[in-house]
Amino acid sequence: MNHTLTEEQIAVKEAARDFAQKELLPGVIERDSKMIFPTEQIKMMGELGLLGMMVDPKYGGGGMDTMSYVLAMEEISKIDNSASVVMSVNNSLVCWGIEKFGTEEQKEKYLPKLTGGEWIGSFCLSEPEAGSDATSQRTTAEDKGDYYLLNGTKNWITNGGTSSLHIVIAQTNPEAGHRGINALLVETSSEGVVVGAKEDKLGIRSSDTHTIMYNDVKVPKANRIGEDGFGFKFAMKVLSGGRIGIAAQALGIAQGAFELSTKYSQQREAFGKPISKHQIIAFKLADMATDITASRLLVHQAAKLKDAGLDFTTEACMAKLFASETAMKHTVEAVQIHGGYGFVKEYHVERLMRDAKITQIYEGTSEIQRLVIARNILKAAT
Ligand code: CAA
Repeated sequence: MNHTLTEEQIAVKEAARDFAQKELLPGVIERDSKMIFPTEQIKMMGELGLLGMMVDPKYGGGGMDTMSYVLAMEEISKIDNSASVVMSVNNSLVCWGIEKFGTEEQKEKYLPKLTGGEWIGSFCLSEPEAGSDATSQRTTAEDKGDYYLLNGTKNWITNGGTSSLHIVIAQTNPEAGHRGINALLVETSSEGVVVGAKEDKLGIRSSDTHTIMYNDVKVPKANRIGEDGFGFKFAMKVLSGGRIGIAAQALGIAQGAFELSTKYSQQREAFGKPISKHQIIAFKLADMATDITASRLLVHQAAKLKDAGLDFTTEACMAKLFASETAMKHTVEAVQIHGGYGFVKEYHVERLMRDAKITQIYEGTSEIQRLVIARNILKAAT
């Protein structure tokens, strides 16, 4: 599908592929196994411009389109999804959220640090009792005049132990429901920000996922994003963009598993010929290639709508739903094609299979994607 891309987009894709092969592939198995955060590699990604790709160059970003971002995400995700989730959260949720909805002062203060890798950001929405039901926020941001007093607990926070800036979604006025929620920029050096234990996860094991506690944290009013009560809508809008990033991650996982399976099936012989020449394996590869191409078309469609300034909410959910289901289904098949070798770490496909699972869960489960798609298509039909 490269024939529809511009020269610049192809160059971005190739640069991301080279970086992933040279800098992420060596050591990826050990980092995953020992839960080692890719600190050096993330620093290099910042230097390469992969952490603030869509941000205006005047704030230190790459000034690129969403298409370039998803192309790079796919390449990084073929190799290391602990690195690509940092890239996704930093680009789509944190940088895009600040650039699109923040004040000039917030952009000038935070974006140059976040785009170059000096700081990493986190998006703090999920709580122990508010996951899919995101309006049920228990974290409170009490209005104290010129500051908010933040109290509560967030969990499953990507980059939780390493980030310097949190976007925290918190309830200021419970009587107003979701219209009483605010989004606050919280520097993690602030007094009262406590990082809990690191999660020991099934997949994306070297990404840094923590519970975070806020104990009487004073957040200046100037750090609120948007008008009072805009926080829930901010979270929903930003998550729509985030879902394109995670869809691209799932696409990369499926594509990586497909490439490994194709290569293996052409080398491995059984019953006197390469297993790719047995129809039972060839048909698995055909199904993989078809679903991956469909995923890619959905991801690119959502990216193009966003770049055109059009509503992309439904298409982002469709892309994430289809690409993550494809990644899960076909990484299981990739392990099957590899047989016993697929079950050991050295061949990479078992890691991709474990990584695929989270793409069906974070930034909205597959069930939430279906709920949003159904609501929107039914609304459009009435
Ligand atoms: N854009 C703008 N506004 C939106 C919106 C969107 N995409 N989606 C909803 N809204 C608005 C609605 O219009 C409504 O506003 P009004 O009342 O003024 O009309 C308001 O938000 C509430 O919306 P709903 O009535 O639809 O709310 P709901 O409670 O019925 O459902 C939901 C909302 C879609 C289920 C939402 O809660 C949701 O998306 N849940 C999933 C949360 C999620 O994705 N979490 C991911 C955690 S972050 C993460 O994983 C990051 C990481 O580290 C990797």
